Amino acid sequence: MTPERPHSTPRTGDPSSRLSIDVRREPGDDHSERDELRAALLGDPPRIPSKYFYDHTGSVLFEEITRLPEYYPTRAERGLLEARAAEIVETTRATTLVELGAGAATKTPILLDAMEAAGRLRCYVPVDVAQSMVRHVAEELTGRYPRLEVFGIVGDFVEHLPELPAEGERRLVAFLGSTIGNFGPEERVEFLSHIAEQMGPEDRFLLGVDLVKPAEVLHAAYNDEAGITAEFNRNILGVMNRVFRADFELDAFEHRAVFEPVERRIEMWLVPRSDQRVTIEELDLVLELPAGRGILTEISSKFDRASVAAMFEGAGLTLDAWYEEDPALVGRFALALGRRRDRISPSGE
Ligand SMILES: C[S@@+](CC[C@H](N)C(=O)[O-])C[C@H]1O[C@@H](n2cnc3c(N)ncnc32)[C@H](O)[C@@H]1O
Repeated sequence: MTPERPHSTPRTGDPSSRLSIDVRREPGDDHSERDELRAALLGDPPRIPSKYFYDHTGSVLFEEITRLPEYYPTRAERGLLEARAAEIVETTRATTLVELGAGAATKTPILLDAMEAAGRLRCYVPVDVAQSMVRHVAEELTGRYPRLEVFGIVGDFVEHLPELPAEGERRLVAFLGSTIGNFGPEERVEFLSHIAEQMGPEDRFLLGVDLVKPAEVLHAAYNDEAGITAEFNRNILGVMNRVFRADFELDAFEHRAVFEPVERRIEMWLVPRSDQRVTIEELDLVLELPAGRGILTEISSKFDRASVAAMFEGAGLTLDAWYEEDPALVGRFALALGRRRDRISPSGE
């Protein structure tokens, strides 16, 4: 799909004339999503896909997390973007930024400023399941950049993005915040392959990844003293109650976040303190959860350069550049810049 651009000639007047939002679907709208959720809850272990964290409350709580003293990833990624945005814009020559899982897009203006300074900024496409965030970001950024056109997409970037938007533009497709870590190893290669297939030869892909580091640093980041991550985690049960008419008792579940060194990932769980019987009307399901039988709500995989290069390779992407903070510091976070690997036809043409 090529989105209709809000206007063929960028306008500097009323910001709302440079803004359009396409609501493809919201969580819970669709039968296949219900089937997916049902299967996940009945799995071993029971799971809730992490996209359900992000109703309005969850999105606001996530923003609070990004400001916590223990939560280093957002600050580290912001620092990297500030240091490298001009170089990224210079090498990619992008005119359009497509941002997957944009959320509150608090780091996005660093890239947009660099694009504007280079005289190339035309279009921004935030894609997120959180409708309130997409609307807020679209309004804020059309107000901030007098010529920018914003085409927001509300939907699941796995299910509702059969084609990358803004075809014909020179696109930088950004996937920041290490959201890629929320996919399992096979899923993430599959997802990136799908992105790579949609990319033109001039498009570039920018991925933010959290790096493997000492377990105590990771543990602190996901078990903050103020308890905001615990509140964020339990909010997913509130989403289940509201969207799927469930009767989870939020306070009956304990937040647990542990680093699994073999898989190199944080796992976030909600563990019932006592036996729970939960009715989920929209799924026609009664869930029996004995005390201690946790629900897995998020995985957050940690990477290094070799694992990102392998993931790119598997997905048909070439890793062009790797940006890390001062290597003398413990590697905290990195940005990987890639492109679609050239396709060579069987005849060699
Ligand atoms: C970890 S946050 C990162 C937000 C922002 N990019 C940042 O770097 O701070 C993940 C974001 O992806 C969105 N998200 C998660 N799963 C999604 C999905 N399947 N489809 C679309 N958006 C999704 C969430 O709503 C949230 O805004």
